[in-house]
Amino acid sequence: RRSCSATPPSASHVMRRGFASDSAPERKVAVLGAAGGIGQPLALLMKLNPLVSKLALYDIAGTPGVAADVSHINTRSEVAGFMGEDQLGQALEGSDIVIIPAGVPRKPGMTRDDLFNINAGIVKSLCTAISKYCPSALVNMISNPVNSTVPIAAEVFKKAGTYNEKKLFGVTTLDVVRAKTFYAGKAKVNVAEVNVPVVGGHAGITILPLFSQATPRANLSDEEIKALTKRTQDGGTEVVEAKAGKGSATLSMAYAGAIFADACLKGLNGVPDVVECSFVQSTVTELPFFASKVRLGKNGVEEVLGLGPLSDFEQQGLEALKPELKSSIEKGITFANQS
Ligand code: NAI
Repeated sequence: RRSCSATPPSASHVMRRGFASDSAPERKVAVLGAAGGIGQPLALLMKLNPLVSKLALYDIAGTPGVAADVSHINTRSEVAGFMGEDQLGQALEGSDIVIIPAGVPRKPGMTRDDLFNINAGIVKSLCTAISKYCPSALVNMISNPVNSTVPIAAEVFKKAGTYNEKKLFGVTTLDVVRAKTFYAGKAKVNVAEVNVPVVGGHAGITILPLFSQATPRANLSDEEIKALTKRTQDGGTEVVEAKAGKGSATLSMAYAGAIFADACLKGLNGVPDVVECSFVQSTVTELPFFASKVRLGKNGVEEVLGLGPLSDFEQQGLEALKPELKSSIEKGITFANQS
């Protein structure tokens, strides 16, 4: 008993969740880019998720080590590492969810769009493999620029005849995570209770947090809301600059990616009312893809929710982001169709 109560609360929590999950359905999750800055902590967090029964870790290098390491953790899922293109099919086969943090991250002074030339090709080839080996998996796209990589994925799937708009997600959860943290700090409310929708896209001004809908409510001034909005939009750059050339957000991104994948798993398992923001095919605005609240279900997207009432400031932000988001989407579509 004594040694039991000495167990740190977090560890006992993880163990309890592990036992409670024995009846959860079998679910395979593949992480592509699993040896990277995001991939490694994301692999760890997915290993802790009791809803996962199989975890496939794929990268062009380094995955045997990551997989051996993570596999020793005494939780439900069986872990396997896959390295190099000839093992990609095996990594993907049977996957319910494929999470993609493969590709290069930003260095100081770079925009997400500067990553396009390298990451677009990586995403295209990974999605080609997905359409072949696990065409009905949910795809969680983390690789930047998300505003373009999601449209690229959609085009690749369309060409392969496997596109299902309910199953393709740009992961914008980190914007929500940041908005919640920054809002809680400024509004002096309990961060665990905070909800803030973030809509639009995932780059600079296309990231539009809707603080007018934030709960718990707080009386923040227009200036404070403006500053919170800017900090949320520049959150990634804040980390890139602090890391000074050693990459972009990895730990907070892994957390955000794990939260989003968990929501997808819950949706697949039939848990009702699972809602997260995500960049998906959309009719919420005139743009073909847009991030907003999405209800997740057994088929992926159950319902794309509308924006709700916007403040004047948010309405202006919405109009201002559309041209940039439109051109990033078109850039992705053009790339996918030109080669
Ligand atoms: P990293 O460079 O540390 O890791 C990337 C990994 O991808 C490496 O292990 C590399 O070997 C692997 N990789 C490269 N080509 C591959 C291929 N063809 N197949 C499989 N794996 C491949 O980069 P980091 O920091 O993990 O970032 C990854 C991506 O995530 C970047 O594009 C970054 O911009 C993006 N990102 C997205 C965020 C979001 O909110 N959606 C937030 C932060 C980063």
